[in-house]
Amino acid sequence: MEIIIQPTPEVATSVAARVIARQLRDKPDSVLGLATGSTPLLLYRALIGLKLEWGQVTTFNLDEYVGLAPDHPQSYHSFMRENLFRHLKIDPENIHIPDGMAKDVPKFCARYEKEIKKAGGIDLQVLGVGTDGHIGFNEPTSSLASRTRIKTLTQQTRRDNSRFFGSEGAVPYHVITMGIGTIMDAKQIVLLAFGEQKAKAVAQAVEGPLTAICPASILQLHPTVKVFLDEAAASQLQRTEYYRWVFSNKPEWQRD
Ligand code: GLP
Repeated sequence: MEIIIQPTPEVATSVAARVIARQLRDKPDSVLGLATGSTPLLLYRALIGLKLEWGQVTTFNLDEYVGLAPDHPQSYHSFMRENLFRHLKIDPENIHIPDGMAKDVPKFCARYEKEIKKAGGIDLQVLGVGTDGHIGFNEPTSSLASRTRIKTLTQQTRRDNSRFFGSEGAVPYHVITMGIGTIMDAKQIVLLAFGEQKAKAVAQAVEGPLTAICPASILQLHPTVKVFLDEAAASQLQRTEYYRWVFSNKPEWQRD
């Protein structure tokens, strides 16, 4: 894992945006895995500002709430449309987001997996992390080999996400999420985490034991993960000096 600690979310995001920009320049028909939540908002704003070529890009989103139609304001369909897709020249046919209204959820999930495979697999997956260490909506104790499926949210996640819904009662109980195995199949992973409230999950994911109690800890087994943090999210890590040392002493060919 490469841990990149920057003074603010804005600076960390601009470094992460460069990684994605390079991916799209190197492979214009890249397949991107995309995340929602407040964390990637700055990233999407940065990507819009970079005026990249999106014509051949395919995207797969991590997750969606069960029972929310695409035009529901809190659906991840709406989130992606508002915060990224409507600002880009991307082919709507190439955008994939789990269908929260799917009649046959297991069948839909199997098809989602097949579509990812058919597209050639995900080249770069963007991730945030929940305060409980979840990635996508893979809550603690999710199978580390799981594929796209339905999950029940923890009370903690429902509480965390109630800020988008106005009240906790309005947050759905169920979601469709790519599995941890699905996420781990991505060729490259970029995880962003900002703020004090993420510090514990980040420390557990990066320096803790590999355990289903902290789903993000599985990333220790992935060969190409970059973790972008601000100072607050890095505040519970023990090896920050080493991470900074690595970043400032990269061989020339590894720099941007
Ligand atoms: C949400 C999403 C995750 C996201 C996480 C953190 O529930 N399903 O993909 O990474 O929780 O969200 P936020 O960035 O708003 O803190």
